[in-house]
Amino acid sequence: MGRLDGKVAAITGGASGIGAGTVRRFVEEGAKVLIADLDADKGEALAQELGVATAFLRTDVSKEGDVAAMIAETTDRWGRIDVLFNNAGFGGALGPIESTSVEDYDLTMDVLVKSVFLGMKHVAPVMKAQGSGSIISTASVAGLRVGYAPHLYSVAKCAVIHLTKTVAMELGEQSIRVNAICPGFIATPLAAGRPDADESQIDQLRAAGASSQVLGRVGEALDIANMALFLASDESEWITGREFVVDGGFEAGPPWSRWPRFARMERPIRHHRPPDR
Ligand code: NAI
Repeated sequence: MGRLDGKVAAITGGASGIGAGTVRRFVEEGAKVLIADLDADKGEALAQELGVATAFLRTDVSKEGDVAAMIAETTDRWGRIDVLFNNAGFGGALGPIESTSVEDYDLTMDVLVKSVFLGMKHVAPVMKAQGSGSIISTASVAGLRVGYAPHLYSVAKCAVIHLTKTVAMELGEQSIRVNAICPGFIATPLAAGRPDADESQIDQLRAAGASSQVLGRVGEALDIANMALFLASDESEWITGREFVVDGGFEAGPPWSRWPRFARMERPIRHHRPPDR
């Protein structure tokens, strides 16, 4: 028996990386999944490979009409929607604050934050009528701490975490759960800095990033898909309003022994015990 038997999901950014890994995992566990993405070539290829449990809809998550159509397509096709995974994203504006344009600001916020707001807004009435549902959004460890990503990406992911909590407070009464996942460094085209990155470029990323990870390897889409699966399933039925860090230990902080101050200390440990009487 699958952990998502009988459930219906829509996954944004489902054509690549974390989203595609989650589509595969959800289908393995018995779900029907709508793959929503801007990238029609990759999205349609994935839907064709996985067969009748999936369908693809070209969706721009920053456009309200597209997000409304995604929810409608899911319910028209399969009669309900149990899970919405707001996952689509990109790196957003790069560069110093004084040279970031208002257009870049708007685009970054539209794709990373407005999209999540729109997903929640349009799925809420359907889930309320059902009296159940799980909304999951992909934030980032960059939304918890500064220094891991450019200004606007960090701010946008922080907003996703806060939106998750405030909407969870509103929808709990109808048994709708709202949670976020904060991935660390995951080997995907986004982390490689280009949407068209191939497997060999992603392999280089794996090799380069492994030594800075507590658990000795970078994250894979499957690591995030497994958390999304838990949050989508009834196993997490008493969990809402939380952000779940999945980062191989990265965000907990660097090992204390890496600080030069401690590296210089070669003195033996001195115990400050009271003198014996
Ligand atoms: P990816 O580049 O492999 O996949 C992102 C997908 O989103 C692509 O298929 C792309 O076409 C789609 N997309 C982008 N803009 C869209 C739009 N306006 N409408 C619809 N679809 C759109 O990247 P990855 O890594 O799988 O990213 C997924 C999520 O994970 C993003 O929200 C990202 O910010 C987040 N994340 C990724 C991390 C990483 O290290 N890879 C770390 C932390 C968070």
